[in-house]
Amino acid sequence: MKNETAFSVGKRDMYFILGLVILISGLAGYNEYRSAKLKESIQQVALLQTKLFEAFASSTESTIEDVNARINNLTNESVALSGAIQSTQNRNEVVAEQIGRVSGTVGSLDKLSKTDPQLLQKYSKVYFLNEHYTPSALETVPAEFSYNKNTKYQVHAKMYPYLNSMLNDAKTTGLSLQVISAFRSYGTQAALKSSYKVTYGAGTANQFSADQGYSEHQLGTTLDFTTPTVGASYEGFDATPEFAWLTANAYKYGFVLSYPKNNKYYMYEPWHWRYVGKDLALKLHTEGKYFYDLEQRVIDNYLLLIFE
Ligand code: DAL
Ligand code: ZN
Repeated sequence: MKNETAFSVGKRDMYFILGLVILISGLAGYNEYRSAKLKESIQQVALLQTKLFEAFASSTESTIEDVNARINNLTNESVALSGAIQSTQNRNEVVAEQIGRVSGTVGSLDKLSKTDPQLLQKYSKVYFLNEHYTPSALETVPAEFSYNKNTKYQVHAKMYPYLNSMLNDAKTTGLSLQVISAFRSYGTQAALKSSYKVTYGAGTANQFSADQGYSEHQLGTTLDFTTPTVGASYEGFDATPEFAWLTANAYKYGFVLSYPKNNKYYMYEPWHWRYVGKDLALKLHTEGKYFYDLEQRVIDNYLLLIFE
């Protein structure tokens, strides 16, 4: 159902973009027309100059008063034409500005129509992600940052550069952050949740594992981190220098902690970080808030800039 809504909004955006493209063409055509007029005016000035010259040349055949009168007339016409040229130039500048503004709007709408709105939706038990949703392209995390060297950890390709630079910067400061879980398809999440239910019972499993279709991991923008010492148990990750570093720095790369202590959705998950874009992450960090504290309509304003 959500998908149909997203589809129809995308279609409406496309019509809007089409309308704006027609508007730009109109403005550009109008600008061309004004430029032709300007050219015409300049030609008229040249013609006047020629007439002026002729007036002098034929002065022997006219009285000096006649020549003066003709010169005055021609000068007045020339001044009027200069005014017309100036106003045409001003008008052209205004039209050029308008074209620039409309083009900017079209660019933003185009970018928005190509960005999945799912990327900034609140999933946890609130929003259902279509079972077929999958990131448009995936990138594999390098082995040096992978917990299990034989596992292919994949992430949303557009988010990858931010993750890569965060992992490298952490490494430069002597830390060892490893990815232990990344993109999980609807099917993978279903299998994982079932196995947790068998091992821990549904009540406990629901405290730390999302049902299929409700996991941020299906977006490809969410990761679980560990360190070589913490390993696969996840236990004690929040006592590591790596966690302290993430808490102080992850926002600079666009990442935020989804499930802090005492959140409404799941147990405290210090290892689980979601990419929301640098602008939104900075806002959350500055205001000391978490992603799920914000209204969805406030979050939506950051979709345009998510990969900037
Ligand atoms: N561990 C989080 C809640 C998930 O399964 O998405
Ligand atoms: Zn997770």
